[in-house]
Amino acid sequence: MKKRIAIFISGRGSNMVAILDNIERGKLKEVCEAALIFSNNPEAKGLEIARERGYKTGCIPSKGKQREEFDRQVVEYLKSFSPDYIVLAGFMRILSPVIIREYSNRIINIHPADTDQFQGVGAYEWTFNNKLEETKITVHFVDEGVDTGPVIGKRKVDLRGAKTLHEVEERGLAVEHDFYSEALYDVFSGRYKFN
Ligand code: GAR
Repeated sequence: MKKRIAIFISGRGSNMVAILDNIERGKLKEVCEAALIFSNNPEAKGLEIARERGYKTGCIPSKGKQREEFDRQVVEYLKSFSPDYIVLAGFMRILSPVIIREYSNRIINIHPADTDQFQGVGAYEWTFNNKLEETKITVHFVDEGVDTGPVIGKRKVDLRGAKTLHEVEERGLAVEHDFYSEALYDVFSGRYKFN
């Protein structure tokens, strides 16, 4: 059975696009379908792209809302879509236990750094400012900490010779776009096993 996923975005949505491409004609074709593209930001560019591509989209603005209040609304909203997994793809809001417990071990995130080295927002800036010659992209399950959940996989990014933040981000994103779908495949196909 294909897993039903809800992809959560807050902005541009380039990881979402890579996942949708892989669902339509790549490595995710046999293992999942996108039931919903969801955002906390009505202005998210990615929502428009998803809509144009014919996907069901939904938005609950989070601005000015308390974390738990917003998460309760999201849990309620998701019910009619019955997703097996929530896939965070540039979703820039910390989730509370209200949603994490409802979807325990079924929320997956991509983090643009090694989660053992850097947690939270601004990972590429941190990487650039520290002049790293190599970084790692992490795909992990979301637990109640910030970027602390069980790691599904990490993938290296070669940054030698990268001179600007833009270049660091560009190289990182190229890896993210490939690697996220590979890691998702491992989970949805049953290849990834919890210890
Ligand atoms: C990506 O680099 C993603 O890893 C990062 O935000 C960017 C979203 O880009 N996520 C986080 O930093 C989560 N804490 P996108 O909207 O083009 O996919």
